[in-house]
Amino acid sequence: MAFDRVFLDELSARNDIVEVVSQYVPLKKSGANYFGLCPFHNEKSASFSVSPDKQIFHCFGCGAGGGVITFVMKAEGLEFPDAVRFLAARAGMQVPEQGEADRQAARRRDRLYALCRDAGRFYYDTLWKPENRAAQEYFLRRGLHRRTMNRFGLGYAPDSFHALLDAMTGKGYMREELLDAGLVSRSEKGHIYDRFRGRVMFPIIDVRGNVIAFGGRVLDDSKPKYLNSPETPIFHKSRNLFAMNLAKTTKNGYFILAEGYMDVIALHQAGFDSAVASLGTSLTEEQARMIARHTDRIVISYDADGAGQAAAQRAIDILKKCDLQVKVLKIPGAKDPDEFIKERGADAFRSLIERSEDHNAYRIEQIAAKYDLEDDEARVLFLRDAARMLAGIESSIEREVYAGRAAKMAGVTAEAMNVEVRRELGVRRKRQKAAERREIRSPVGLAQPKDRTLAYTDMKSAKAEENVLRLLFSDQKLIAGIEQMLPPAWFSAPVLRKIYERVLALDREGQIVDVLSFEGWLEPNEMSLLSGILEQGLPPGEHRQELAEYINMIRMQRIRDGTLMKAGEDPLLTFGRIKKQNAGGQTI
Ligand code: UTP
Ligand code: MN
Repeated sequence: MAFDRVFLDELSARNDIVEVVSQYVPLKKSGANYFGLCPFHNEKSASFSVSPDKQIFHCFGCGAGGGVITFVMKAEGLEFPDAVRFLAARAGMQVPEQGEADRQAARRRDRLYALCRDAGRFYYDTLWKPENRAAQEYFLRRGLHRRTMNRFGLGYAPDSFHALLDAMTGKGYMREELLDAGLVSRSEKGHIYDRFRGRVMFPIIDVRGNVIAFGGRVLDDSKPKYLNSPETPIFHKSRNLFAMNLAKTTKNGYFILAEGYMDVIALHQAGFDSAVASLGTSLTEEQARMIARHTDRIVISYDADGAGQAAAQRAIDILKKCDLQVKVLKIPGAKDPDEFIKERGADAFRSLIERSEDHNAYRIEQIAAKYDLEDDEARVLFLRDAARMLAGIESSIEREVYAGRAAKMAGVTAEAMNVEVRRELGVRRKRQKAAERREIRSPVGLAQPKDRTLAYTDMKSAKAEENVLRLLFSDQKLIAGIEQMLPPAWFSAPVLRKIYERVLALDREGQIVDVLSFEGWLEPNEMSLLSGILEQGLPPGEHRQELAEYINMIRMQRIRDGTLMKAGEDPLLTFGRIKKQNAGGQTI
């Protein structure tokens, strides 16, 4: 699947995007770009633009965008490799034998799989050494049986900067491979040291049973509580679910979606072997699709706190898109499933599952909880609020059922409720039309991503992150040394971080950073976002200085939101710690 870059360069040179697109849509030149009617959504005014300089297309209306290969993928409904073959045929080019390059990449990945398995084995062995009683007791204190610990391959990373490094290089792995696998980090001075130190370890295993990454938890309440592997060639956080390797063979008719490692482990130990976790991030569409492949019913069982409930609301939308029947479980008197099971036992949890509510009922209840329904005024407000939510239900039958329920809760007639809902539906339609008009006019850069699953949580930071990427794409020389000034972990938007990490990796490998190197690698919605970012002009001013300012802006946001300093992710702090360790006689 991986095509040689030289070949792809030639392919894109011989398939000018303006020419290719013109075969589908009449284009008119205006300024530096060409415009036409978007082939991917219905429109009357031309908001679809093609940039010959950047060799990208972008629609200001629907947000679709990318390079010439993405265009063909969308226009012809082809997967990446077939779109490449399509363009090769169009330009009369031979598609090179991919055998050797593929085999090489596969070998490299196999080495990383083996390395992660060996690292997992090392952490496991370390846990059971007599001197690590504290770690063993940590798990036991949390109520895990030895059998469960083995089933999940739990381990312990010793409090050393080089224990794993020594053990794995001793087995013949290269330092570069340890870096690629995210098992070690490189300090500013270029020293390599173990990423996980003094933490109990949770291996993350893919559906096929390969160890691909780790989460490590501190034994006390220091921060960060959990440290996870970074994105690697074999680990993509957004495409994996913790414990999916076990849950996929469940006989349960439904899956349970929890937030944390410990929740899932406690659930499995209590007999709920269909529990998985989305690894601390909000659920992605890919994860939802994975679940939908194995079941058609899911019970969300997130933490009881506000963050958990907000995440549940987001997860509902994503899971519904995959046609899953979604229920939401409420955990009374405990903060998460792990705690609940520990206090009340498996049977009590089973009855929570049985009583878990359909997601619509859950939402109405969440809304009702905000109002005192004994009070007339509050009841009116509740009806409005509920109507807004009900108007979002697509099926009119479901809408009717839940409107009836909400009416009952507020003690009004179903007809009164329906009037409100119809009014809301009207408001919604109008608003949608207005938004469509506005979005076509306004510059995309100031808005949220079109795809709501990519929504920015920190607009200020995200806009600075976008600008950083825009600068790096425009001038690759700016990339050298930037990782020290701007660690990927500082990015607030996961999709921008993913792009940034690839930019760094490409540059490290001496590869070109451009849209072409992201085609077929980013998901279509992510590609659209990237094309939207690159479509805009560069910020004015001297590039290096601009870059420094954006980095500073991101840094300030991380200090403001508490990620920096507290989490110890500031490279300067890490560096200080390493130096101290050195002075203490430890070498890294
Ligand atoms: P929680 O803070 O709810 O942790 O985070 P938990 O699972 O209840 O942890 P325990 O019970 O204290 O051990 C939920 C999940 O979010 C991710 C982890 O995957 C965690 O399981 N997380 C949390 C991180 O990645 N890093 C953190 O610092 C905290
Ligand atoms: Mn917990």
